[in-house]
Amino acid sequence: MTQPSTSNVIGQPLDRTDGPLKTTGGARYAAEFRLPGLCHAVMVLSTIARGRIVDLDVTRAEAAPGVLLVLSHRNAPSLPDHGRAAFNPPAGRALSLFQDDEVHYNRQPIAVVVADTFEHAVAGAALVVAHYAPQPPRLDFAGERAQAYKPKNVNGKPADASWGDIDAGERVAEVRVDAVYTTPMQSHNPLEPHATIAHWQGDQLTLYDATQYVSGVRDTVSKTLGIAADDVRVVSPFVGGGFGCKGSAWSHVVLAAMCARNVGRPVKLVVDRQQMFGPVGGRPYTRQRVALGARRDGTLTYVRHDLVAHTSDFEDWTEPSAVVSRMMYACPNGTTTHRLVKLNTGTPTFQRAPGEATGNFALEVAVDDLAVALAMDPLALRLRNHAEHEADTGKPFSSKHLRECYAQAAERFGWSRRSAAPRSMRDGSELVGWGMATASYPAHRMGASAHAALSPDGSFIVQSGSQDIGTGTYTVMTQVAADALGVAPSRVRFELGDTRLPHAPVSGGSMSAASVGPAVQAACRQLRAMLIARAIADDASPLHGAAASGVIVDGDWLVVRDEPPRRESIAALAGRIERPLEASAEAKPGDEGERHALHSFGAVFAEVRVDADLCVIRVPRVVATYDFGRPLNAKTARSQLLGGIVWGVGFALLEDTVMDSRDGRIVNANLAEYHVPVNADIQAVDVTFVDFPDLTFNPLGIRGIGEIGITGVPAALSNAILHATGRRLRDLPMTLDRLL
Ligand code: MOS
Repeated sequence: MTQPSTSNVIGQPLDRTDGPLKTTGGARYAAEFRLPGLCHAVMVLSTIARGRIVDLDVTRAEAAPGVLLVLSHRNAPSLPDHGRAAFNPPAGRALSLFQDDEVHYNRQPIAVVVADTFEHAVAGAALVVAHYAPQPPRLDFAGERAQAYKPKNVNGKPADASWGDIDAGERVAEVRVDAVYTTPMQSHNPLEPHATIAHWQGDQLTLYDATQYVSGVRDTVSKTLGIAADDVRVVSPFVGGGFGCKGSAWSHVVLAAMCARNVGRPVKLVVDRQQMFGPVGGRPYTRQRVALGARRDGTLTYVRHDLVAHTSDFEDWTEPSAVVSRMMYACPNGTTTHRLVKLNTGTPTFQRAPGEATGNFALEVAVDDLAVALAMDPLALRLRNHAEHEADTGKPFSSKHLRECYAQAAERFGWSRRSAAPRSMRDGSELVGWGMATASYPAHRMGASAHAALSPDGSFIVQSGSQDIGTGTYTVMTQVAADALGVAPSRVRFELGDTRLPHAPVSGGSMSAASVGPAVQAACRQLRAMLIARAIADDASPLHGAAASGVIVDGDWLVVRDEPPRRESIAALAGRIERPLEASAEAKPGDEGERHALHSFGAVFAEVRVDADLCVIRVPRVVATYDFGRPLNAKTARSQLLGGIVWGVGFALLEDTVMDSRDGRIVNANLAEYHVPVNADIQAVDVTFVDFPDLTFNPLGIRGIGEIGITGVPAALSNAILHATGRRLRDLPMTLDRLL
């Protein structure tokens, strides 16, 4: 097909197609579906971190007004394989489904109370009394380090990887840095917490769920309950943010289905804000050691990156922090390791740029320390060690324009005006610091399918069972479809978020656009060809008998290119077509990942101002430029990166899940005490991108943009704080008390 695109819509800053629905309250989120007879479920969570439930007194709860069911280990149905039939790391979780009396962490679900109203369910849940036989919990991350073990793998990659000869690299190094970095537990807090409505009609189960992966939820629930996948439908048209927590179906989803089956009515279970801290994952504690060696000219001779992170005592989940050091710089010798310690917490999970966000912090601070030790400009040191291929595999990057990012961001920031010495840029009572770091995130893609159909009015419906987790999937897929069809975006309606639609992968790992886009493009190109074929075969059409290769779609019209008066509107043609024209396509990655390293990159520059007396840290500006292939929508792309940078500021300066060392209770399980940036914390953020389509990666030339924005920011801020104050902070969050 050689048809030129006339719509030229890809890359345009199109407003969100779902914006009007969201701003008028018309967008329906999981907890907002209304069903006749809907009842309400509230989870009861454990109050100890380890032990057994010896008695669960539910008599008062069961007798409370409106209560229909108290589900617990005393009366829960036994599930196939002890409830673990869908256990499949790293995303298929070990769930708490009341199959035994064991408690593994504080805030583990131990019962669900179902009542006719939400208020009755809350009141009933407060009447459940658990008596425990507690055992001493393991809660001390640093203290357990001697027990660290090697996990089987880290998200499908080897736990350990080495290349070159690390001893030789250490011998020839003339300058070395070697330090330890720590990051705290962090908790997921999308605006919309997890929520599920479960509705049985006979053996058919419909779930309205807040999820990043409708077909993943279907598979988890059907396997766990031992029912056919075809009997489970998952609906999720709108998701109020999902940053990894909604990538797995957690216990509450299956519990809602179990309760609904038991009471014979639809059941709604909303995970409340406090319950977001514990049973639905989060970022684990990390302790990282990074050592670098270089020659006097700055050439790296070795990198060593060792991670210890925590996991729960019932499931291995590994934060893949050291993976970033396998690819970031050209370094002939390296070794990277991942180790786990078991604690009595909920299982950690994917949280926005898992691995990169934490690992990049340690590596990019180490590089900055090396620059100081070498008396080199930190940007010049990074350029000296610019990588053309992935160090551990030797594979060349499919497309890498990091140099352009460095240059553009440095120029916009004014980096050349930086004075090198720490504490040299004072402004009145404020110490001013400028720091920078590299951002990176791998490009992921999986197979996806799409369906496109012409409606009788000449508009198009395009569908894929993907998700829009707030990132703009509806909008960018509308653009991809419009571009492939040759029509205006307003003629396309894109539908997603339903397992009845063609299969699409998880909206995680920043992969939705790059996975679903090629399928949408292929289906729409097919449909366009069918439309043209139909017109030229139809003796009622002015295009009858034209050569297919000479017909283009131009907005609302089918046109014979060389005879423009010879045209027919799509609507007129559609009006004569009895059976709808429709096309389906599947698009899968090929073997490009065997031959190429697939990554996005960026450059982040930050200014901090530190009050010389009070040590209050402010971030007046962040300037960042990214290379993620071709942007699909300049506005939604910028929003993604802006949000990532804001999160990076929170990651660096604020976020910290604090656990009581005695009982494993998270003590700041609310948004008053779990600090995230507010407007006053965020000042100027300047986001730009370079536009180099990565056609090796997929036919649209796009890589993901969801996660890269958070990376680089924590290191850039630590580096700026060092430049401002002369003090190096290697432990997050970098709160002012650590500077006093
Ligand atoms: Mo991302 S942590 O895969 O939502």
